[in-house]
Amino acid sequence: MRAAILTVAISCANIGTIRILSRSQLLKETSVESSIFGKMGDGADVELFTLKNARGTTAKIISYGATLQGLWMPDRTNKFGDVVLGFDDLKGYLGPHPYFGGTIGRFANRIARGKFTLDGREYALALNDGANTLHGGRQGFNRKVWKGEIVKGPRTASAKFTYVSTDGEEGFPGTLAVTVVYALTDEDELKIDYTARTDKATPLNLTNHSYFNLAGKGDILSHVLQLNADQYTPVDPTLIPTGEIVPVKGTPLDFTQPTAIGARIGQFAGNPSGYDHNFVLNDANGQLKFAARLRDPASGRQMEVWTTEPGVQLYSGNFLDGTIQGKGGVAYQKHAALCLETQHYPDSVNHPNFPSTILRPGSVFHQETILKFSAR
Ligand code: BGC
Repeated sequence: MRAAILTVAISCANIGTIRILSRSQLLKETSVESSIFGKMGDGADVELFTLKNARGTTAKIISYGATLQGLWMPDRTNKFGDVVLGFDDLKGYLGPHPYFGGTIGRFANRIARGKFTLDGREYALALNDGANTLHGGRQGFNRKVWKGEIVKGPRTASAKFTYVSTDGEEGFPGTLAVTVVYALTDEDELKIDYTARTDKATPLNLTNHSYFNLAGKGDILSHVLQLNADQYTPVDPTLIPTGEIVPVKGTPLDFTQPTAIGARIGQFAGNPSGYDHNFVLNDANGQLKFAARLRDPASGRQMEVWTTEPGVQLYSGNFLDGTIQGKGGVAYQKHAALCLETQHYPDSVNHPNFPSTILRPGSVFHQETILKFSAR
């Protein structure tokens, strides 16, 4: 009987691979579709790319900001839920919001007083976070229309986004060509792959700013997190790193064992009023490594984060206060979601003891982050 339900499928692209799929899985095909999401004020189209795998898992990315707009993942009963915050329409993304799902560049997180010196020359950036520069300045990569295209490949649904940042944009040197590829595999992995080239030396720190809530509703205080990080980079009251790298042991930042976000979050007073810290990933060497595991006990959904980056910013949505209405008209309250932004350490350009973020002409920047989803 079982043989009747199971069918052996031989992948044509790779004759050596034999996969066993259920009949319902075989009925669905991995697909990528594009449609128009909205129009910019100047009439330019913003496209929506819908990546769907054989299980029905879906990732939606818009070309405005190369933004992850939706991510529909099954729970332990195979019920799909959207696990990222965002908006139903372009108007929401064009309005004020804290970087929901966007591709962040040219420099993720903060640069102190928007200043750095490179090869003997001082650069001054646009300031947009008090006296500091945050997430690339006033019009970071998350506020640009990228060129999007469908990429065909076996058992993976992909879309590629490209953007050319001009010399001097937001104060950064060099013309920088950036590519971000989102790929959804049949194993419910979302791979985000970045490459970049420049014609002048420039600081570069790219990340994705998705706000995750694996329950698809409520807050993330009962989500359980584990981080592969024994150390973090302390910050001053304006959230600029002091330059130290200190152990997490004995602090509420110790996530070396799985711990609920809400268990110790009350210990933060002032700024940050919750988690907003860069963790130093253990043994980072530019190769893909395990960084984090986030689990929602209620839905059974789990997300693992793997990255080539040396750091991850855990941000627990401290500045969300219910004033932003997102998808389905839901008002996003404090701790409605959390971010795990794989990155180089904040303000690296001003801390020679942090791993370098300088990209030089002739070198190709490469970064990969994989989000691996499952439910049990
Ligand atoms: C930063 C926070 C900031 C948030 C949204 C995070 O990456 O660490 O301080 O409030 O982004 O802007």
